[in-house]
Amino acid sequence: MSKINVGLFGFTGTVGSAVLSPLIDAHKDDKINLIILHRESSDLSKIPSDANVEKRLVYLDESGVKKTKSVVGDLDVVISTVSGGGIASQTYLVKSLEGSKKLKTFIPSDFGVNWTKKEYETPSLAPIAQKEDIVKLAKELNVPTTSVRVGIFDLFFLGYKFLGTDVKNNKVEVYRDALKYQLRITSLGYLGYALSQLVQSPSKIANKTITLYDYAPTGQEIVDALSKVNNKPAEVVEYTEKRYEEDQKDTFPAIAAGIRKRWGTNQWDNEEGQVEKVEVEGWKGESLEELVKRYV
Ligand SMILES: NC(=O)c1ccc[n+]([C@@H]2O[C@H](COP(=O)([O-])OP(=O)(O)OC[C@H]3O[C@@H](n4cnc5c(N)ncnc54)[C@H](OP(=O)(O)O)[C@@H]3O)[C@@H](O)[C@H]2O)c1
Repeated sequence: MSKINVGLFGFTGTVGSAVLSPLIDAHKDDKINLIILHRESSDLSKIPSDANVEKRLVYLDESGVKKTKSVVGDLDVVISTVSGGGIASQTYLVKSLEGSKKLKTFIPSDFGVNWTKKEYETPSLAPIAQKEDIVKLAKELNVPTTSVRVGIFDLFFLGYKFLGTDVKNNKVEVYRDALKYQLRITSLGYLGYALSQLVQSPSKIANKTITLYDYAPTGQEIVDALSKVNNKPAEVVEYTEKRYEEDQKDTFPAIAAGIRKRWGTNQWDNEEGQVEKVEVEGWKGESLEELVKRYV
């Protein structure tokens, strides 16, 4: 049986580099054939020199669609982990994948939560709505897709203090009933591992929306973990309704507010109903305490 050809686009980014490493492992183990898709300016030196993977240039404008079609025509799976201007550029990737006889699924750069229709209409969340436009276009062009939803990345929650929680200063910020409800956290290590496994059976995830996360502690469990690691009781600070309203004005605060709301109300689904949480076997993760310790 021929090996699955997996294309990765956006390998230099935070998510891309987390996905690159386990995909290279799967490539070396002969489980997949990894092909790096890149643009002219992408830093190819970020690919380990011993990876022995093929690199292919893609053209992300209307005039480049025909050329890119021949570049991606033999791929079974394409994973995109782009961000910023790259989200809209995926339009040309989708157009290049249209009509592919090989493609089992395209995984566009989503890696967010299940936003609601109302949230998509919030002006500050327009960059998030762009992701939906890509999925819509893919459906129109009969390009099979898999939307991968996650929780907040460990790096963003524990490293970048994206939800206000500050592990070094032993402070947990909570909105509404966050102490009793679970926060979905996806470690970048798990996301990369999970994708490297799932792409080996692409028909199982094609035309689906799936959720991947490996931690779901309650706010209280997070408070307990910080208290234990810092050896003194963690401070619990309330994130107020006023701040929630103020945070709607700008993109990153609005994204963070949206995640805080899901955590504090335990409402993680949107009007499309419950999204399947896929469990990927074989992952050996750390305990929450070990994870927190790494960031302290
Ligand atoms: N759930 C969470 O906690 C969370 C947190 C962060 C991000 N995310 C999501 O994860 C995804 C990836 O984000 P990230 O943080 O990994 O992004 P990132 O680190 O900013 O990486 C950006 C990547 O996008 C590519 N790129 C940038 N501009 C481009 C353009 N105009 N055309 C084509 N490619 C372009 C870059 O490629 P080059 O090397 O070619 O420049 C790079 O590989 C996004 O969808 C983001 O919303 C989720």
